[in-house]
Amino acid sequence: MKKLLKSLRGYHQETPPIWLMRQAGRHLPEYLELRKKTETFLEFCYSPELAIEATLQPVKRYDLDAAILFSDILVIPDALGQEVDFVKGKGPKLMPIRKISDIHELHIEKIEDNLIPVFEAIAGVRAKLRSDKTLIGFSGAPWTLACYMVEGGGSKDFERTRIWAKTAPEEFERLIDLLIISISRYLVQKIKYGCDVIQIFDSWASVLDSEGFDKWVITPTSKIIKNVREIYPDFPIIGFPRGAGVNYLRYHAETGVSAVSFDSGVPLTWIRDNIQTNVTVQGNLDNMVLLAGGRQLDEQVSKIHKILGNGPFIFNLGHGVLPKTPISNIERVINILRKKS
Ligand code: CP3
Repeated sequence: MKKLLKSLRGYHQETPPIWLMRQAGRHLPEYLELRKKTETFLEFCYSPELAIEATLQPVKRYDLDAAILFSDILVIPDALGQEVDFVKGKGPKLMPIRKISDIHELHIEKIEDNLIPVFEAIAGVRAKLRSDKTLIGFSGAPWTLACYMVEGGGSKDFERTRIWAKTAPEEFERLIDLLIISISRYLVQKIKYGCDVIQIFDSWASVLDSEGFDKWVITPTSKIIKNVREIYPDFPIIGFPRGAGVNYLRYHAETGVSAVSFDSGVPLTWIRDNIQTNVTVQGNLDNMVLLAGGRQLDEQVSKIHKILGNGPFIFNLGHGVLPKTPISNIERVINILRKKS
């Protein structure tokens, strides 16, 4: 069995499987070179040859245990017909959705057709990836996608989205329901084309109160997992409700995820004692510690391995690799975990 899948099936392994969120792209010189081939980021994502190459780059360089398909969570709003643009140095910009009539303008009918280049990239990676390596497909969760779609881009606190969700929940739910169906269909295709695992990114779960977390994170995520597993029973799914704090408890118990990915804020012993007893855990090295390097990095990697390494565990970061991260720091982490020097 592939190493990452073995951990997801609940087995403990002496050396954990290793992959890193945002391992492809930004910090890799070979990606920055390849990125020059298209003008816009979305064009890059929709060019199967380029997406295949970008997906394989970090696996080739670091011999990681998994590839994550090179794409972005915002291909979903794009495929639904919302205008999405990535502005150099500024992040994503979307034509914001602010009222019910804006939701009505989104079109779900062609979602699979519009995303064919993504599925072609999956098939292409599958054909080139060594058979012992896992291919991870991903999606944004409904709440996180809604945050970008309503706000029209990134934000500090996603004020408009949260106000809409609080003051007109029955309206906001129309958007969430549309996203549940879109994401479910998207993930089913990703699996059909060859992904071994799915990760659901809920990067902005942190901005919700506990009630909102139930309604906009747990319920929609549970529905997506149920939809996917109606077609692919027992399919391994990793959930990442970043910044969920104590709500990680209910998330792991109620959504049906096979594994939970932790941000760096959650104490290791708490993860071990409360979550790892029930499901596989993934995480949670601070991406800034990875960037900074030095003795602190070595110590933190060893500490994570020591505390979480006695149960089902996947080594990862608490959030994505930062652009300025030195390659040698990543190599060092892998050597420590695999006990080479
Ligand atoms: O290596 C991988 O993990 C695969 C590729 C991947 C990208 N985005 C490529 C990308 C993945 C898994 C994502 C997920 C993603 N995208 C998330 C969830 C994870 C997280 O970090 O919280 C979110 C919130 C987005 C939305 C997004 N895409 C933003 C805010 C930005 C701009 C800032 C940034 O992070 O770079 C992007 C652009 C983006 N997505 C780039 C890459 C390589 C940089 C654009 C470029 O290279 O021109």
